[in-house]
Amino acid sequence: MIKNIQDRIMSLKKEKDVLILAHSYQAREIIEVADFTGDSFQLSVAASKATNSKVMMCGVRFMAETVKILSPEKTVYLANPIAGCPMAEQMDKELIASVKKSLPDYTVVAYINTTAELKTICDVCVTSSSAVKIVKKIENNKILFLPDCNLGQYVAAQVPEKEIKLLQGGCPVHAAVTKQDVEIAKAAHPDALLLVHPECVPEVVAMADYVGSTSGIMEYAKKSDAKEFIIGTEMSITEHLQYECPDKRFYYLSKKILCPNMKATTLIDVLNCLEGTGGEVITLSEDVIRDARKCIDRMIELG
Ligand code: 13P
Ligand code: SF4
Repeated sequence: MIKNIQDRIMSLKKEKDVLILAHSYQAREIIEVADFTGDSFQLSVAASKATNSKVMMCGVRFMAETVKILSPEKTVYLANPIAGCPMAEQMDKELIASVKKSLPDYTVVAYINTTAELKTICDVCVTSSSAVKIVKKIENNKILFLPDCNLGQYVAAQVPEKEIKLLQGGCPVHAAVTKQDVEIAKAAHPDALLLVHPECVPEVVAMADYVGSTSGIMEYAKKSDAKEFIIGTEMSITEHLQYECPDKRFYYLSKKILCPNMKATTLIDVLNCLEGTGGEVITLSEDVIRDARKCIDRMIELG
């Protein structure tokens, strides 16, 4: 049954010239029909290089907006319109415009998990895999980092020469994991290495053997000689790693790291979107595209 749906998707995407992008938090059956899978940085670069006339994002809204900003001439679909990112919606343009007024000599660094509208007043975007590298390269020593204070604190620790101001935003999914969750997981799997996403709180990050983006965690686990790993990011990564490395063992850090928005997209949504009965076409004004693009281009240039 799943195979029949996948076959239909494969022939429709070819017929309609649709490039399917899937964030690595998507379900296996979606990843199998995608043309490209990766973390948010890799997806934005893949989108900018794509030659297809249409792109479908299986991920969350800000990722589809990023594709539209980079490829305004393309028709960009979000496979399931309810898939938003609560962190991206925490801070709006008005709020940040007023913060900027009080910090006029700061460079505003926006995590890519922000709305297109907010990006229009930021200087440079970063993703979890590029944040440290990009912040190091910014000439200004004064940085306002938003919205994720956990990722911001992680970056600040790696780049102590910069003065980094943070705001109280973050990922409700990763931030829900506590030091106690880590202690329980480590007690259950004493030989396992702990790999965590920098969206986790600093006490959790401090206990990790490796800290990195979704793809950083996957790469580390695949290359490592170790045999057991506790995975401190969305639960799908534990599943994908177990599938790809059957001779190793992967454990969830906590049952709490499940992103309902990333799980909102189903294989049927992908099919419906291709058949024209589902999904949403992303529309952004020319002004938003022009202004938001500057900070994404700067990210690609520096990253
Ligand atoms: P990555 O940048 O690691 O893909 O993370 C995106 C995200 O939404 C993490 O919660
Ligand atoms: Fe947003 Fe967190 Fe879900 Fe990532 S895991 S999409 S940051 S809510």
